[in-house]
Amino acid sequence: MTTTATVFDPVRLGPFELANRVVMAPMTRNRADPAGVLPDSAAVYYAQRACAGLIVTEGTQPSAAAKGYPGTPGMHDDRQEQAWRKVADAVHDAGGRIFCQLMHTGRIGHQSLIPADARIVAPSAIPAQLEVARADGVMVPAPVPEALTREGIAVVVRDFAQAAVRAVRAGLDGVELHAANGYLLHQFLSPGTNQREDAYGGSPSARARFVVEVTEAVAAEIGAERIGIRISPGGQFNDMRDKENEDTYLALADALAPLRPAYLHTLRRRSSPLHQELRRRWPTAYVLNTGYQGASELADVSPLVASGAADLVSVGRLFISNPDLVRRWRHGLPRAAWDESTFYTGGDRGYTDYPDHPGTNEQRSQS
Ligand SMILES: Cc1cc2nc3c(=O)[nH]c(=O)nc-3n(C[C@H](O)[C@H](O)[C@H](O)COP(=O)(O)O)c2cc1C
Repeated sequence: MTTTATVFDPVRLGPFELANRVVMAPMTRNRADPAGVLPDSAAVYYAQRACAGLIVTEGTQPSAAAKGYPGTPGMHDDRQEQAWRKVADAVHDAGGRIFCQLMHTGRIGHQSLIPADARIVAPSAIPAQLEVARADGVMVPAPVPEALTREGIAVVVRDFAQAAVRAVRAGLDGVELHAANGYLLHQFLSPGTNQREDAYGGSPSARARFVVEVTEAVAAEIGAERIGIRISPGGQFNDMRDKENEDTYLALADALAPLRPAYLHTLRRRSSPLHQELRRRWPTAYVLNTGYQGASELADVSPLVASGAADLVSVGRLFISNPDLVRRWRHGLPRAAWDESTFYTGGDRGYTDYPDHPGTNEQRSQS
């Protein structure tokens, strides 16, 4: 399929008309305080990047028990919500749209990051073979997680729904459910990490069930048109070992399709029959991220939209160092290099101090 669409064309996403098809990909930046409250600089950081048709925020824990890294923000108490309100207002004032990525890290976590009475949980008691960060930043072997009980599953589902209510109440436009990159939802999808023999494991539709239940619960609160779902079939990040696990992802897409969420956001390295089939079956907007292969440059992402492989594309690291990325692309201006050493370090350096290109300001009103 070829279309005449370019990444600069507007596109409909759920109830929103986005200015362009470039999504700022979710990126953890570890700038929140130990209570999961974002600093005021987060509002500056996100508003600087409002040229994206849609911003997806950094992974945000829906409950205190869902936290897996120092410095990630939460969406489960009033102070966190107030900080998010500043972010939402600043992005809207700058003309942008923003969804909050809700992330439960599951077995990728450490007891020191969560309340004493909470447990590191996963579908099955299988630890990741890697190191995780403690609250003090020291890296230690990943713990053996507890297999979630049926009651525990219901609590997590409820936590996602309540966090989504907070997100929308704070003025964010919607939420993205993080079912990618080896975190809890992905752990349920994958037979390597989900060896359950109850209704949540053992078959493709059973492995998909938890993600479907989370999506349904969130949809009941905020409407499916404000939900995106992020997946990474075959992705090996965080010690995930499955191949593409095709049947599970097709079962997931088929179960979610009748709800008509705002979008499906797929991370992939290369196209495959599974990706083509997901794109074909998915009933609403399809977002692709072909990341981690050098920069996601305009020349890389344009063909995805022009060929119809995706309706929107998401871009990560280039947005860190180029807050005005869409304007730079539009006007052929050079892109600044990112500094990886400040991705996760906290503070304003490498966060809010990347300038716009001097050449993009005069065109700001047109783009
Ligand atoms: C600093 C950093 C933090 C990230 N944090 C998240 C995250 O919180 N949630 C998520 O789904 N992906 C996360 N990712 C993955 C990005 O969304 C994206 O898929 C990846 O950067 C590849 O795109 P790129 O090549 O355009 O950077 C992160 C990537 C980076 C570089």
